[in-house]
Amino acid sequence: ETGTLQALFDETIAAEQRIEPRDWMPDGYRKTLVRQIAQHAHSEIIGMQPEGDWLTRAPSLRRKAILLAKVQDEAGHGLYLYSAAETLGADRADLTAKLIDGTQKYSSIFNYPTRTYADVGTIGWLVDGAAICNQVPLCRSSFGPYARAMIRVCKEESFHQRQGYELLATMMRGTDEQRAMVQESVDRWWWPALMMFGPPDDESPNTEQSMRWGIKRNTNDELRQRFVDMTVPQAEALGVTLPDPALRWNDRRGAHDFGEPDWSEFKAVLRGDGPCNAERVANRRAAHEDGAWVRAAATAFAAREQAAP
Ligand code: ACO
Repeated sequence: ETGTLQALFDETIAAEQRIEPRDWMPDGYRKTLVRQIAQHAHSEIIGMQPEGDWLTRAPSLRRKAILLAKVQDEAGHGLYLYSAAETLGADRADLTAKLIDGTQKYSSIFNYPTRTYADVGTIGWLVDGAAICNQVPLCRSSFGPYARAMIRVCKEESFHQRQGYELLATMMRGTDEQRAMVQESVDRWWWPALMMFGPPDDESPNTEQSMRWGIKRNTNDELRQRFVDMTVPQAEALGVTLPDPALRWNDRRGAHDFGEPDWSEFKAVLRGDGPCNAERVANRRAAHEDGAWVRAAATAFAAREQAAP
């Protein structure tokens, strides 16, 4: 029977139709999706921390309201994604346990510190910009709940990206100190943003199979290139320099050439040795432990409701 089910699965993928939670799927497909969706959900949740650090120090009520809404959106994205993972049989409590014991990853980018308020703008512009570039193709991912979650997430990320750009554009119209603050921030975030797309294709163990399954629609290097091409004109419009001496338009390729990110830094961050890994996970662990009474109360309440006639 598995042969027929496998054939049906293969046909669905070949016809570019969606796999839904109740459909039969190969174990490897399920495992890959749980891995990617969990890592994605964890990234959204951990991603609240670097910007959350500026909530109490936003320079105006308007900026505080915008930032608060944005950080809350990231929490919402994490929750949709945990729900998408649950449709595959994953258990949310187990995923959280794996995040805080370090057995599941989250995006490297959130292990860098936010040193100035310009970083809030740069995260919106570059980090959310990179996230959109990576996630728009995932709206066509073969697994229904993930693809549908991505549609709403991408709409909100587009808004985040524009608010970041608007913040930076405002600072660039300000004083020399503000312009210098923006440039210094862009210099720090550019290379880590390029690393968000993952290792180069020839060192990416999962890409080939994930593309065959229609989970991923582009390779890591394709999306990195797309991001560079889309960002260069925006940097020009802002009046900032991207910190890469090798960056230049290549007429023959119809794309920008650019330098190689420092992959040893990327590997160190993935190993847990980035500037903020320990702090990010410790904060998440503390939030989880401090929330134990809420979970206990909710469980007791649900049990009482169920026992009631
Ligand atoms: N940070 C942390 N880990 C990474 C990163 C990164 N930037 N890039 C790749 N990795 C991990 C992969 O998860 C994989 O880990 P594992 O096999 O040990 O579980 C390993 O490095 C090898 O990489 P790939 O084979 O290229 O992995 P994959 O095919 O999963 O591609 C990618 C990685 C592009 C990140 C993919 O998982 C993806 O598109 N995920 C969805 C988007 C996402 O997670 N975004 C999070 C940040 S955006 C945001 O939250 C605002």
